[in-house]
Amino acid sequence: MTALTASSTIGTWLDDPVGGPIVKGLLEASGATEETLTPLRTLPLQQLVTLSQGKMPQSVVDDLVKQANGGVIPEESEASGAWQETVTSGRFGGQTVVVTGAASGIGLATASRIAREGGRVVAVDVSAEKLQTFAASLPNAEIIPVVGDITKQESVDAIVAAAGERIDGLANVAGVNDDFSPLHETSDAMWDRVIGINLTGAFKLSRAVIPAMIAAGSGRIVNVTSEAGLRGNASGNAYTTSKHGVIGMTRSAAFMYGPQGLRVNAVAPGGVATGIPFPPNVSEAGSARLAPFQSAIPTLATAEQLAASITFLLSEDSVNINGQVLASDGGWSVQ
Ligand SMILES: NC(=O)c1ccc[n+]([C@@H]2O[C@H](COP(=O)([O-])OP(=O)(O)OC[C@H]3O[C@@H](n4cnc5c(N)ncnc54)[C@H](O)[C@@H]3O)[C@@H](O)[C@H]2O)c1
Repeated sequence: MTALTASSTIGTWLDDPVGGPIVKGLLEASGATEETLTPLRTLPLQQLVTLSQGKMPQSVVDDLVKQANGGVIPEESEASGAWQETVTSGRFGGQTVVVTGAASGIGLATASRIAREGGRVVAVDVSAEKLQTFAASLPNAEIIPVVGDITKQESVDAIVAAAGERIDGLANVAGVNDDFSPLHETSDAMWDRVIGINLTGAFKLSRAVIPAMIAAGSGRIVNVTSEAGLRGNASGNAYTTSKHGVIGMTRSAAFMYGPQGLRVNAVAPGGVATGIPFPPNVSEAGSARLAPFQSAIPTLATAEQLAASITFLLSEDSVNINGQVLASDGGWSVQ
């Protein structure tokens, strides 16, 4: 039998005669129930550390693994039951791809996958330190970190300058959450920040790279929207508006530039286990109204699973696809 490790899925742990009681004991101690973990069943146990946003240290996962294995941490086995990312060697060979939000979560997983598949990645984020850590983690890859804020024209100019004449792909991933507020409670500051980063930033950067793509007669843009771009009950008003806007921008650009060889698509993630922060004071009214719908999320994905969807649309494998919104949400949108 395969040993239970940090890579084994939460479902495998819960169903295991040894692992099940250990995880349930931890849940009980924190006042939670097994049902809390239902959307997480397909995720590796390790993802609990990312999901907890610092509340659960790595040592808790290590202790669970030790408890299940007589006090030792066993070697990881390929057959952990969790989905494994499969790198397609050379898929982005000879290509330059700009990825925003590349220091964390979905953007980081996307930038990493492209770099490991031979692409030259212009990795953009406001976080200099985390970008540096990413670049250092893949010393043999071609990663050009650009520290910048996509809402600022000078940053957009710096990104285009770093990319050079040829830009094969752009992944607009950078984004921020709102405070779950309903429309009449939304402050100007919240609206401006969320629309500014999620929609206007993606617009400004797309506007800046499209001329190079038109000149080359080819190019792919992938915009990251959200389940909140598809429905009204997944987030607050500002975020929902921004992500619906991203879909409109995607469709219009796909229509306008299709004849010139460009393809513009969007990915709509459902719940993803990243450390994406929420503002400190979320709206009580908005949260209460959203809660029953958010608890119906069928499953959470890893950032790497979203990168698989995004890189598919960035690559030539998606050759005949233009103007589409790919819901990468474990089936949430069909509920
Ligand atoms: N995590 C989810 O459940 C989820 C669900 C649906 C959609 N999304 C979307 O996916 C995208 C990525 O989210 P994530 O979960 O990986 O979040 P994340 O917080 O882990 O990563 C977002 C990154 O964007 C960067 N960023 C923020 N503002 C920026 C700016 N102005 N300029 C440059 N970089 C900036 C941040 O520094 C961060 O590194 C976002 O657009 C988000 O709305 C996430």
